[in-house]
Amino acid sequence: MSRTAAPVLLSAVFLLSLSAASAFNITLLLSRYPGYETFNDLLSKTNLAREINRRSTITILALTNDSMAPIAAKTEEVQTRILSNHVVLDYYDNLKLNKLKNTKTVLTTLFQASGTANGQQGFLAVVHRKDGSIVFGSAVKGAPLVSILEGSVAAQPYNISVLAVSQPIIGPGIDGEWVPVAEAPAPAKKKASPPPAASPVEDEVVADAPAPEEAVPAPAPAEAPAADADADDGSSPVPKSGAGKGAVSGVTFGLVVALISLVAA
Ligand SMILES: *[C@@H]1O[C@H](CO)[C@@H](O)[C@H](O)[C@H]1NC(C)=O
Ligand SMILES: *[C@@H]1O[C@H](CO)[C@@H](O)[C@H](O)[C@H]1NC(C)=O
Repeated sequence: MSRTAAPVLLSAVFLLSLSAASAFNITLLLSRYPGYETFNDLLSKTNLAREINRRSTITILALTNDSMAPIAAKTEEVQTRILSNHVVLDYYDNLKLNKLKNTKTVLTTLFQASGTANGQQGFLAVVHRKDGSIVFGSAVKGAPLVSILEGSVAAQPYNISVLAVSQPIIGPGIDGEWVPVAEAPAPAKKKASPPPAASPVEDEVVADAPAPEEAVPAPAPAEAPAADADADDGSSPVPKSGAGKGAVSGVTFGLVVALISLVAA
């Protein structure tokens, strides 16, 4: 009995250790594609590689060695913030991105999960342009969509997708050097809307579905407004105003009085 139990137990332990291990190793995965060494090294140096490997559904917007230049001189803290903003906490491959409509979709990044992002800094916006290109940018209001999708580097559907993008996304304020030009001229708005953090995301996420679906049932209610139009031209005995309602209840009152007098008679 122990002769059979031991191998079974060993296989169980082996399977458990397999499932406990990461689904992927971003360092190893990226090392198979030449041109991403600087980006890959920085992911390890900033410990973001470990954070990435802990996830099971993730997308990396990868930068080639050449396009890392704007990040190279920054402090490691700033580099961590910027790179973590290139790690999307969902699976997006070419196919999924191409299905997006011409609306802005907001993506949550690892920077948001760090809890150190201000406002919309931890979010990215992705837009599928009419010319077919797909562009990413910071979701901060007024931030430009600067980083063009250049293709897929690697993918393990639907766990990890590595996409090539044209240049780093350095969100406004993320490196502590940004002057809030766009937000300065609107102090009145800030007083009027105290919770600025949560609402802009919802405003900017444009759902694809509702617009065409709402257009379909339109013919049915169209008959109702036509009847209203008749009423509005004065030919209808039903008036719109409050005084008219008074007149109607006056008539009802008269009828009731007439009925009462009939009963009394
Ligand atoms: C892929 O992701 C799913 C859900 O996110 C997870 O359940 C699954 O274990 C992952 N696959 C691998 C190979 O890690
Ligand atoms: C991931 O791969 C790299 C490069 O092969 C290796 O040095 C590292 O130990 C691996 N990490 C894990 C958690 O297995």
